[in-house]
Amino acid sequence: MRRIAKPTAALAAVAMIALAGCGSGRDDSSASGTGSSGDSGAAAEGFEQGSLIGVALPAKTSENWVLAGDLFSQGLQEAGFEGDVQYAAASGTVADQQGQISSMVTKGAKVIVIGAADGGQLTTQVEQAKAAGATVIAYDRLILNTEGVDYYVAYDNFNVGELQGQALLEGMKAQKPEGPWTIELFSGSPDDANSQVFFDGAMSVLQPAIDAGDVVVGSGQTEIEQTATQGWKPENAQSRMDSLLTSTYGDKELDGVLSPNDTLARAIITSVKGAGKPIPVVTGQDSEVESVKSIVAGEQYSTINKDTRALVEQTVSMVTALSTGEEPEVNDTESYDNGVKTVPAYLLPPLIVTKDNVVEAYANDPNLAPLTKG
Ligand code: BGC
Repeated sequence: MRRIAKPTAALAAVAMIALAGCGSGRDDSSASGTGSSGDSGAAAEGFEQGSLIGVALPAKTSENWVLAGDLFSQGLQEAGFEGDVQYAAASGTVADQQGQISSMVTKGAKVIVIGAADGGQLTTQVEQAKAAGATVIAYDRLILNTEGVDYYVAYDNFNVGELQGQALLEGMKAQKPEGPWTIELFSGSPDDANSQVFFDGAMSVLQPAIDAGDVVVGSGQTEIEQTATQGWKPENAQSRMDSLLTSTYGDKELDGVLSPNDTLARAIITSVKGAGKPIPVVTGQDSEVESVKSIVAGEQYSTINKDTRALVEQTVSMVTALSTGEEPEVNDTESYDNGVKTVPAYLLPPLIVTKDNVVEAYANDPNLAPLTKG
């Protein structure tokens, strides 16, 4: 059994603010323990082995998406289904994904698993899927503003942010025992519902330190709109970091940077190095190969292990349950409000990784384990 950390009261408060701000994201305090959603109606009849299962993934903006595609193709086949795995193009992403989902519906897919390219722009396609009797599972990223999404399967996104915030504070203290510490904040793409939740989780930890004067955001840019990285593109993070270094860090020290994922972390580090400055404590997420190497080399400070194998496996087991007419297992029926409904979710626990635990964290990962053995 996987265990889910119970969210705190602070989480509830922050998540409610997030909800007020964007109408989506985590809305409530507690993971509810294992149960079943009972509200999709989708499981009632089941479907045959060999049925078509659509998997619509976003552009390959990070390694986890590349891995997910391969794992879905293999996992669905092993479970006895015909997988149709598609990625959105790097440009024209939204229209591309909309077209792919529509065509999965037309081809008669029984379940459509969606890693949304833009969580707010799939209402028509999701409702088309529902009308055709398919079950819709949001994978990793929530799909907003539609009743049609039946289940959500993801790592606990708010906890990812909390872990990043904590790592940033701990890393800076280890590097410079006395504050105040100067930081900059980066967030993900505004069209990804996860970006707000990651940021809220991190700010639930950082804001009290900012309020206490222990941490200062050098540029003063603390709003998510100011910190956003369109399209999760590293070049956008790098150019924002270049500008911040020029505008704010001529002779000032930068102690830490909140980066929401590894791709952006490396872009930020590249920018700092280019400016000839010492590398600050930089957080990340995804356990990308180059970032794990960077952590081992003492450059990037932390990442998050969200093992894609476990997430895909969980999703495939939901598909199998649906095929036999059962309700898939969920363990959170309160946290993910998509603007019109609370989506029953299965959340997996993320793990923070720094140089201190890098060996044990990837001990059972055949790709990453060799990188940690110096
Ligand atoms: C995922 C992250 C990933 C980011 C960019 C998010 O929705 O949860 O793991 O780094 O997208 O691809």
